[in-house]
Amino acid sequence: MIRAPIQVDLTTGELSGNGVQTTIRTLCHLQGIFRDEKSRQALEAEKVVYRVQAFHPVREGEEGGLFWGATSIEPGVVGDEYFMTKGHYHSQQNRGEYYLTIAGYGGLILMDQARKTVYQPMRPGSVHYVPAHTAHRVANTGGLVLTFLACWPSDAGYDYERIAAEGFSARLRKVSGVPTLVEDS
Ligand code: 6PG
Ligand code: NI
Repeated sequence: MIRAPIQVDLTTGELSGNGVQTTIRTLCHLQGIFRDEKSRQALEAEKVVYRVQAFHPVREGEEGGLFWGATSIEPGVVGDEYFMTKGHYHSQQNRGEYYLTIAGYGGLILMDQARKTVYQPMRPGSVHYVPAHTAHRVANTGGLVLTFLACWPSDAGYDYERIAAEGFSARLRKVSGVPTLVEDS
């Protein structure tokens, strides 16, 4: 079915139009995600960490379609770890994805099958390819809201359970004020 276009505000990354859905993730949704669980609990539970807007022109899980989204991550830290997304593998492991940074500064954290974790600095205009079979998460390392657009296959899905069970092998932490990828102990 041919769908009406939606609109991206190129300054803020905000999506508008028919079929755009918004999900908010506050600190209370992010239990077990940060290394320092005590610090997370000490912060305001309703504090917004990130917002995801998604445009699904076809049903989720349908083969052959593409989804479009925008994620905005607030600046902040939990302990010495930057505000970040939960992170996931795609349920259909052989599905990749693109990210395009619109505003702010951050890090795309990627972990391959061998649990090797790297991070790519994100800045306005940077385009990142998330390969298939790769866990991905984004952290906001700057003082402004970090916003990126994404495009991914409509049958990719989300495997959050594996991240909850196994985590990433490294975390992006603020060490002497500098974003540093530190192996998780
Ligand atoms: C996706 C994208 C992206 C991601 C958000 C929030 O597959 O849909 O990777 O839209 O979902 O940035 O991250 P989490 O899904 O890990 O919370
Ligand atoms: Ni994804």
